[in-house]
Amino acid sequence: MIPHVTVNLAMSADGKLSTIERRQVKISGQNDFRRVDVLKAENDAIMVGIGTVLADDPSLTVKSPELKKNRLSGGRDENPVRIIVDSNARTPCNAEILHKGPGKRIIAVSESADPEKLKELGKYADLIIAGTGRVDLKLLLEELSARGIRSLMVEGGGSLIWSLFENNLVNEYYTCIGNIIIGGSSAPTPADGTGFIKEQDFIKLELADMEMIDEGVLLKWKVKK
Ligand SMILES: NC(=O)c1ccc[n+]([C@@H]2O[C@H](COP(=O)([O-])OP(=O)(O)OC[C@H]3O[C@@H](n4cnc5c(N)ncnc54)[C@H](OP(=O)(O)O)[C@@H]3O)[C@@H](O)[C@H]2O)c1
Repeated sequence: MIPHVTVNLAMSADGKLSTIERRQVKISGQNDFRRVDVLKAENDAIMVGIGTVLADDPSLTVKSPELKKNRLSGGRDENPVRIIVDSNARTPCNAEILHKGPGKRIIAVSESADPEKLKELGKYADLIIAGTGRVDLKLLLEELSARGIRSLMVEGGGSLIWSLFENNLVNEYYTCIGNIIIGGSSAPTPADGTGFIKEQDFIKLELADMEMIDEGVLLKWKVKK
């Protein structure tokens, strides 16, 4: 069994997650931030790739005091389990995600990660070794399920999301499309990686909901299995 996976991201009207310098930019507004906070609070865990940790240094904490209180009164930690997918243990020991707010952290690495660095990171997070050269996402999700994680929100970035789609591990895909053009052929997009070549391999989606939000639009897709 594997957790229910919801990918959530904000992209510009031209389909970019950030700039060509991979610099985080404000794409959506306050209503979307609140929606994302609710989604975060609803999920057992939240996951990002090491690329996002190095670029944005996010904390991935729940922001609303009310939502934190609700989680606590439901017998859960204030924040969902925060997970970094990081084959070679490149996570900096002073990363925000390892220090801000209470709750569990997991760093998923591969067998090729440096044992010395693992020893250091082990002070701040649980470690899961899944895969040889690169994190094997299916193995990782099975291990997360064995640890009681039933729902997983994925925040990005494009390389991790691509791999999840490539391995057919995504159930829902939410995109908030903001009213800006970022441009740049090398700027990150929601699914980077190698891409599918054959049409029969494309992931097929079903539009489940859409609404105007802030100055953009929110699309909620379900992945057809
Ligand atoms: N707009 C948004 O909603 C949003 C959200 C998040 C991020 N972003 C942006 O996205 C950019 C970062 O995206 P990114 O694509 O560079 O990084 P990423 O997807 O966050 O992380 C990618 C890294 O994860 C590691 N990884 C380990 N196992 C993997 C696997 N099986 N498949 C894929 N990756 C695996 C790889 O590094 P190793 O091989 O070293 O492990 C890979 O380079 C930043 O510019 C950030 O601002 C935007």
